[in-house]
Amino acid sequence: MPDTRYRRPSRLHRWAIAGWEHRGSRSRWLHSYRDATMPGASGRVLEIGIGNGRSIPYYGDITALVGLEPDARQIDYLRRRATAPFLVHIVAADAGRLPFRDGAFDTVVSALVQCTVPDLEATLAEVRRVLRPGGQFRFFEHVRGSGLEGTLHNALTPLWSRAPGLGCRLNRRIEDAIRSAGFRSVEIRHARLATLPAIIGVARL
Ligand SMILES: C[S@@+](CC[C@H](N)C(=O)[O-])C[C@H]1O[C@@H](n2cnc3c(N)ncnc32)[C@H](O)[C@@H]1O
Repeated sequence: MPDTRYRRPSRLHRWAIAGWEHRGSRSRWLHSYRDATMPGASGRVLEIGIGNGRSIPYYGDITALVGLEPDARQIDYLRRRATAPFLVHIVAADAGRLPFRDGAFDTVVSALVQCTVPDLEATLAEVRRVLRPGGQFRFFEHVRGSGLEGTLHNALTPLWSRAPGLGCRLNRRIEDAIRSAGFRSVEIRHARLATLPAIIGVARL
């Protein structure tokens, strides 16, 4: 059985997380992705890997937001940012083992997280499990390129995923995994996130 547990980041990794807080998470590219993803959420929302909470202002009229984040440093930033016109509840847990009952959420959101989770299929199975029938999974993720670009992503991933970043794998076939995860419908738009191919979409149960 694959190990889906989140591993505590090293000191170098935590330094990279601080860099994400001060530069990466504010980039102008992310603005348009968040704008295409969070406003469509409704009802009771779970955002997995919510990071430092920069997505919070993008949510519209939702009932409550549960922000799932395993990293203590990110949770520190998140707690400072978690003021919103809806209830925000922060849960320190791993997306591969969601501590919620079946069908607990109307919407699950994931932004730049599926490249990092230890087991992509297990995480998507958990997303499905905690969504109510008719619920939606909204996401934006960078994905493996095709052709030569995909070959380059394969070659870079062993080194890249060990770099002091977020354990990110450039060559994850996230679109295929979402399409095979058993959702009733999947709508995906292709885009670029800086130099990386990316997908923005909604999958419905
Ligand atoms: C690139 S950051 C994106 C953060 C945020 N979603 C955003 O768009 O700014 C990836 C996030 O996924 C979180 N993460 C990594 N592994 C995870 C796991 N197994 N379960 C849940 N979150 C995880 C990291 O701690 C980090 O906050």
